[in-house]
Amino acid sequence: MKAREICDNVYLIGHVDWDRRLFDALIPLPHGTSYNAYFVRGSNKNALIDTVDPAKWATLAGQLDELPAPDYLIIHHVEQDHSGSTPMLLERFPELTIVCNAKAKAMLLDHLAIDDERFQVVADGETLSLGDKTLTFVFTPWVHWPETMSTWLPEDKILFSCDFFGSHLATSDLFADRHEVYDGAKRYYAEIMMPFGPQVLKNIDKVTQYPIKYIGPSHGPVYDDPQFIIDAYRDWAGGEPQNIVCLPFVSMHESTRLMVDHLTVALADRGVTVERFDLTTVDAGELASSLVHAGTIVLGTPTVLTGPHPLAANAAFLANALRPRTRFATVIGSYGWAGRTVESIQQLMDRLKVEFLEPVMVKGLPRTADFEALDRLADTIAEKHRDLAQRRFADSLVCRPVVG
Ligand code: FEO
Repeated sequence: MKAREICDNVYLIGHVDWDRRLFDALIPLPHGTSYNAYFVRGSNKNALIDTVDPAKWATLAGQLDELPAPDYLIIHHVEQDHSGSTPMLLERFPELTIVCNAKAKAMLLDHLAIDDERFQVVADGETLSLGDKTLTFVFTPWVHWPETMSTWLPEDKILFSCDFFGSHLATSDLFADRHEVYDGAKRYYAEIMMPFGPQVLKNIDKVTQYPIKYIGPSHGPVYDDPQFIIDAYRDWAGGEPQNIVCLPFVSMHESTRLMVDHLTVALADRGVTVERFDLTTVDAGELASSLVHAGTIVLGTPTVLTGPHPLAANAAFLANALRPRTRFATVIGSYGWAGRTVESIQQLMDRLKVEFLEPVMVKGLPRTADFEALDRLADTIAEKHRDLAQRRFADSLVCRPVVG
């Protein structure tokens, strides 16, 4: 892609990675991704905002052939999909100054061999004039690393937010279509930002003090309707859990699957939405996305060598790491002779602030009494979710402004 103008003398550059299918050797990318950099051409100076994954340096180098030399490189975040081409830029532009915060500088010195004299360290709220354009640096820590910051360009009301508000979506469009981007942005939030929900909310409050007409993230398209993604982020980070059961499961000899099938129907009969995932084929991003709104997690697992199946243990570990706002959790499954599956899953989920509901563990093939136990579990979940909904309703009455 050539440089694309967002507004007068502000360009989206970088690489659209249509073919990448895995990020951090962990996160599936069903729709590819992009590594966005931005170029701001001022009347006196020029700034490049972020770089690209070093494997895609050639794309950025070609785009810079068509632009004036940058005086400043703004580094928002040290993860190398954004900072990784910095050494090549410093070599190509010997006068280039890196502008970043003190934490980012320390991390860059750790990760990349950069000369200490190339840095200009900025403080939160500090500005840098490019002549007719001004860069204002807004520290936004923990979205999703400690050094992350954003840059606001007041003359054009653009917030360059780095990973914050991003999406793993390869698209030829400059601006986001809200219907196209929503699922990818939610997945991205779930995979990257969800463990930092309280910090996300604080940073939304911080950046929205500034008038914003565009948000330029470091992955996915630019938002020319920024309120859409800001409202979505507030919901994901601060909204109450919903009447949804996230049901990841694995079954070796069909007994656990029979239980999962029965519970799925029992919950649906009681008006509870079930999002179920076969862990042998699951896309981890879909599972993470489900956790954003799930009121309850029910993990279905057989017992293997006295503990949970490794795929179920991995799902519990993932949920524990992502720290969703889920309120309830439990385990169902079949075992051969004995085991400590429930205790192991509880230990793997020890960081979740959930109430553990009565598990249903069955020796061998589930029978009538076991299906009745699953019905009681469905009753309990439906009742707990009704309580959640009533609390949401009561809260909405308290928060509603008085009109008239
Ligand atoms: Fe897109 Fe945290 O790097």
